[in-house]
Amino acid sequence: MAPLKVLIIGGGISGPALAYWLSRIGANITLIERAANIRASGQQLDLRAQGVPMMKKMGIEAAVRAVLVHEPGTQLIDSKGRVKAFFPAAQHQSEKQSLTSEFEIMRGDLVSILYKLTENRKIVKHLFNTTIESFTQDSESTPNGKVHVTFQDGRKEDFDLVVAADGTGSKTRKMMLGPDAPDPRYSLGGYIGYFSVPSKPGDSDRGTWCHLPGDKIARIIGTRKDCAELTRVYMLTHGTDVALDEAWKSGDLAKLKKALANLYKDGGWECDRFIEALQHAPEADDLYCTPFVEVRLPKGTWSKGRVVLLGDSAYSQTAGGFGCSWGMVGAYVLAGEIATLLPKNPSSPTAAVMQGAKNYEDIFRPIATSNHGGSERFESLMFPKSNFGIWILHAFARLAASLKLGQGMAWDSKMAKWQLPEYPELEREQSKD
Ligand SMILES: Cc1cc2nc3c(=O)[nH]c(=O)nc-3n(C[C@H](O)[C@H](O)[C@H](O)COP(=O)(O)OP(=O)(O)OC[C@H]3O[C@@H](n4cnc5c(N)ncnc54)[C@H](O)[C@@H]3O)c2cc1C
Ligand SMILES: *[C@@H]1O[C@H](CO)[C@@H](O)[C@H](O)[C@H]1NC(C)=O
Ligand SMILES: *[C@@H]1O[C@H](CO)[C@@H](O)[C@H](O)[C@H]1NC(C)=O
Repeated sequence: MAPLKVLIIGGGISGPALAYWLSRIGANITLIERAANIRASGQQLDLRAQGVPMMKKMGIEAAVRAVLVHEPGTQLIDSKGRVKAFFPAAQHQSEKQSLTSEFEIMRGDLVSILYKLTENRKIVKHLFNTTIESFTQDSESTPNGKVHVTFQDGRKEDFDLVVAADGTGSKTRKMMLGPDAPDPRYSLGGYIGYFSVPSKPGDSDRGTWCHLPGDKIARIIGTRKDCAELTRVYMLTHGTDVALDEAWKSGDLAKLKKALANLYKDGGWECDRFIEALQHAPEADDLYCTPFVEVRLPKGTWSKGRVVLLGDSAYSQTAGGFGCSWGMVGAYVLAGEIATLLPKNPSSPTAAVMQGAKNYEDIFRPIATSNHGGSERFESLMFPKSNFGIWILHAFARLAASLKLGQGMAWDSKMAKWQLPEYPELEREQSKD
């Protein structure tokens, strides 16, 4: 049986995780990334819930522990800087998810750890500065059918399986769904932006969040701290700000900085210091700003034939706290379902790929999307605007903290009870190619 030939588009979290699992069944893998280098940027990620046993199953616990960010907890403060509630870091076993998880890691560190898993495998080819132009595929009833891919440089190649791990704005998803399908990104009405600033003595190592009162748009400003020299500033908005919309659409960094600075001007607490740094400190050039969206795809559309969506391209929820966990778990379930079916269909990888992709959606969709759809709760709980609304939020948070309750990282019991499936095909002894 020829090895399964796979193209993975996107070298973030879920792409390299899938490359690892499929390399364990000896697949011939090409992993492509649009950026010129490993895109090891981004701020803090949390490994939560089943993301924790997942990371251990991948054999990377020691590597992850070596670069953990030790955040002692999360606090809410008012616009004069006074602490209103404090939540210590959570243990992952707990059903009460906290904003600070036991495994906080910088995105770049995790991306690098995942890359290293397959960096030296002959059967995995890593290509940077590479994307695809288009693809077609043979009919689903062709037993040995292929996906015919054209790369951006005009090169053509056939694959048994193509996986879109190219993030929330996935272009591959658009190609797969077709030109007439609606854009599945549902706007939650706001933005999150983050950037680094030089630290000052007194910057807290707790995750610190400050709700700013205002009448037009709801604003939160926060900080997290993973190293001595820098403080990472987060700006979260809810509501419409035309200048910010336009700046985001333009993709112009200077315009984005200006729009955010205008929104937080005179906001209280350390706002003035942070917007000064945002506009003038070189450290803040790492500004990353993205709208809050959920990718809401109709049931049965996570794959089409031999093309499958994975990670944020399939089930993104911006800043929902589970993105990297679900990126890694989704990769495992997809690989496991296909690996289980392959030996049963020795003459046709097509059947295993298509059915495996369907099984992956059936099994994982209820988990990956269980927090979706809560836009009203999101709005009223997370983003109070009035002084009174903020006062209520602080009062609730204080009560919750004193009762040691979680703080609204929705965590239903269906999700909490779910266990990672076992896939013996992925656990076999490995060749060293
Ligand atoms: C630069 C960046 C910073 C982030 N920072 C944070 C953060 O601080 N905190 C947080 O919680 N989450 C952050 N995220 C989101 C988080 O990484 C994801 O929610 C989660 O890890 C799921 O990952 P993913 O691999 O599915 O998608 P992503 O992590 O978005 O990775 C997608 C990858 O595909 C590449 N790509 C996109 N389009 C193409 C294409 N057409 N062809 C080839 N490659 C393509 C992208 O360059 C990227 O490397 C960030 C994402 C990115 C891209
Ligand atoms: C993977 O497939 C490519 C293209 O078909 C082929 O050139 C290469 O030798 C294969 N690699 C391995 C390790 O089988
Ligand atoms: C990326 O690829 C394009 C062609 O596809 C080429 O023109 C460009 O020089 C490449 N950039 C880097 C940094 O390799």
